[in-house]
Amino acid sequence: MLAGTGAAYGALSSLGMAPAVADADLARKAFTPIRPGHLIDRVSGTAPKVVILGGGPAGLVSAYELQKGGYKVEILEARQRPGGRVFTARKGVTETDLDGETQTCEFSPGHFYNVGATRIPQHHITLDYCRELGVELLAFGNQNADSLVYYDGKTPLNNKAMTYRQAKADTYGYVSELLTKAVNQGALDKELSKDDKDALSEFLSSFGDLSASGKYEGSSRAGFVGASPGAGLDYGEQRKANAMSDVIQSGIGRNFSFEFGHDQAMMMFSPVGGMDRIYYKFAEAIGANHIRYGAEVTGFSTGDNSTKPWATYKRNGKEEKIEADYIICALPPHLVLKLKSDLPKENADALKSAKPFSSGKLGIEYSRRWWEEDERIYGGASNTDLAIEQIMYPYDHYNSDRGVVVAYYNNAENHIEFEKLKHADRLKKAVDLGKKIHGDVYGKDISSSFSGSWMKTRYSEGAWIDWEGGSHSRNDSPAYKKALEPVGRMYFAGDHLSNSIAWQQGALESGRAAVTAIHERVTA
Ligand code: FAD
Ligand code: ALA
Repeated sequence: MLAGTGAAYGALSSLGMAPAVADADLARKAFTPIRPGHLIDRVSGTAPKVVILGGGPAGLVSAYELQKGGYKVEILEARQRPGGRVFTARKGVTETDLDGETQTCEFSPGHFYNVGATRIPQHHITLDYCRELGVELLAFGNQNADSLVYYDGKTPLNNKAMTYRQAKADTYGYVSELLTKAVNQGALDKELSKDDKDALSEFLSSFGDLSASGKYEGSSRAGFVGASPGAGLDYGEQRKANAMSDVIQSGIGRNFSFEFGHDQAMMMFSPVGGMDRIYYKFAEAIGANHIRYGAEVTGFSTGDNSTKPWATYKRNGKEEKIEADYIICALPPHLVLKLKSDLPKENADALKSAKPFSSGKLGIEYSRRWWEEDERIYGGASNTDLAIEQIMYPYDHYNSDRGVVVAYYNNAENHIEFEKLKHADRLKKAVDLGKKIHGDVYGKDISSSFSGSWMKTRYSEGAWIDWEGGSHSRNDSPAYKKALEPVGRMYFAGDHLSNSIAWQQGALESGRAAVTAIHERVTA
């Protein structure tokens, strides 16, 4: 059936009509890289030329995979660098935002933070490309028992910092105690057999570190006040359990489930030296002569059977035009709508339901790693309901004399509070809020800082998009399906055309899907 659909699709396509695309064609097929030589004897004359709009992850992977099969590729990228929303702030990086404010990053050599993408879970194909391109990885601590939680509220546990390990020990302890009680009092007799109850009680006893009588009376899992146990008779002072009602009402467990997420679970990874290393490697593999940086696409025509598709772009103050056999448009959808094009109205309308989202980060370089020296926090993040949402500690240069802390990585309304400020005011606000969690140390030893707000970033104008009626991991609205369809000789790619929105994985998968579709059409 699939073969039949593919053949019909090929026939329609060769007539140059916008093909009606069945769901079966849009579903992911296992990706097979194009075999070198596969074009030989299948196309007459020279290899087809594919122009790619955008040199972010989707555009770069498209060019890279097409080249494996011998296609000619040209990438038009508006920025002077590859990677798009994969952007690493390090010494010398300069960015002027849409309000006209310019920041130049002054971090010490070798130090950085990722303003966009920063973590990769084990199942993402991003790691496969790291292997293939020789990008060395570091473990990225996405959870840390010794980082902190801090939430507003009325209990003695609120408006002060507590380690995750203590919050978890108390929460798991009391939840286990209560459930054990419910089992013992027969409240679950309808649901559970005697054997079920015995097994559940055994699990709860270990999960909550309960006493023989089924009570939570504190646990060494919560850690120690001051130093850990030492030599001889030094048993340390175990942290006491907090009161059950305070633990429940304080909401200290509200972020525990973050690490359960399919894409947020440890182990996680990030490239040595910054996430953008992956895309510099892609660019190197593709070849500088195939990437036009500073080339801002201004318009396009999708082409059909009798006319080739083309794009216009501005570069060095000049307007130029490039023609192709196929185009892959790997630009953010809301930016496609700003271009002059012959995109049919129904396709343009579909893109309107992709709504850009606000998010951003601010990195502070400290000339002392106080979070490690004073608080023994090595990586991971603290979580809070303050507008900064989280503080992320560096996953590189452990135990050295300096490092870059991400003072906020926040979203939507919380980020908009920062997005509207100039950098100096963002820094001040971030430090004031950070001091609530870490105290005065947070305002000391600051050597420099750099922030990014994606809504205000030229050539992005949003951190990612949300499809109306969809989610990052499941999109099936008519608008989304329409946006997946090729038009004439133009194909579309980007994380927005995947069920891994806001992940490089989505962009890479989507670029590969465009490559597969073009190659099937060319060789049909
Ligand atoms: P983009 O990266 O946006 O690339 C589009 C390209 O088009 C850009 O290079 C842009 O300059 C170019 N362009 C735009 N307009 C024009 C024009 N007119 N002419 C020419 N070129 C143009 N992913 C992860 O895997 N892990 C994470 O931890 C993670 N965290 C993130 C955190 C933040 C704050 C953000 C913003 C993103 C994060 N992501 C993460 C997501 C990841 O960065 C994206 O999924 C990925 O960059 C999408 O790639 P893309 O090629 O689809 O789009
Ligand atoms: N995928 C992005 C992150 O993990 C949004 O932060």
